[in-house]
Amino acid sequence: MNPSKIVVSGMRPTGKLHLGHYFGVLKNWLELQNQYRCFFFIADWHALTTEYQDPKILRQACRDILLDWLAAGLDPKRCTIFLQSRVPEHAELHLLLSMLTPISWLERVPSYKELKNELKDRDLSTYGFLGYPLLQTADVAIYNAHLVPVGQDQVAHLELSREVLRRFNHLYGETFVEPQPLLTPSPKVPGLDGRKMSKSYGNAIYLSDDEAAVRKKMGDAVTDPARIRKSDPGNPDICNVFDYHRLFSPPELVSRVNLQCRDAEIGCVEDKKLATENLLAFLRPIQERRRALEADPKRLEEILEAGAAEARKIAQGHLKRVYERMGLC
Ligand code: TRP
Repeated sequence: MNPSKIVVSGMRPTGKLHLGHYFGVLKNWLELQNQYRCFFFIADWHALTTEYQDPKILRQACRDILLDWLAAGLDPKRCTIFLQSRVPEHAELHLLLSMLTPISWLERVPSYKELKNELKDRDLSTYGFLGYPLLQTADVAIYNAHLVPVGQDQVAHLELSREVLRRFNHLYGETFVEPQPLLTPSPKVPGLDGRKMSKSYGNAIYLSDDEAAVRKKMGDAVTDPARIRKSDPGNPDICNVFDYHRLFSPPELVSRVNLQCRDAEIGCVEDKKLATENLLAFLRPIQERRRALEADPKRLEEILEAGAAEARKIAQGHLKRVYERMGLC
């Protein structure tokens, strides 16, 4: 455990989490909470930058993501878990940083133009959307984070963060640590159709999918497309179900299936059944924890409240220094 290193990361609440989120992000967080001083938050303000037109979905999405985090094993005793909007110091620092952030820096962040073009169904010519990466900068800077576990898609945001904080340090004296991305390798988790697992492709298995849903989805999953009859030899290297074996099955089964599939000794139906049982065994304890928490909304509220109080304590200390450095009193 290295409590002197601060780790901060957030996720936008976009609904229930699937296996792609688990292996891509959450699993890393579960390890980090044992190694560093970690802050993990639900980025509900960030969700509003693109979903501001529909206030109905946000509350449920925040509840779902919190349930999934806790069910997966994120532990409020080991890390600070909170809702971004309950720590107003993030917004205060965002405002202060906006004073010294050139608009052109924000406009040239690659995801700005890309996402604006992609989400043509809504008007994203907004101040809030342009400021997305600056709010993200405030999120990490308010705790003086050293490390920010993120995916490759967020690296450009962190580059902007470092530039802005460097500018702050240059203008007002050393105040902020320059945060570095923590890119951790994650295994391949294809969706049921072989594309990247994604809610928008409809090819995802959710952490909260019940047994019947998992069986149905696995039954429909695409395997090696060249293998039409059971007597055809298969190729596990291009089979999604084999990727699931790698994730969930014990090593002996993985090697047995690997050989038997290539030799046409095991068919896709039986192979899927084995993978499904192991996937279900992985999901079961997560879902048991989820059910217990669902039945205890008071506990969820307590976790959020304690998390925000803890985060605010630290954030206020840092913000005070920023006020002083900027000549505010
Ligand atoms: N932009 C991140 C994402 O879409 C979410 C996020 C918001 C975040 N603030 C952050 C991640 C601060 C890391 C640190 O995934």
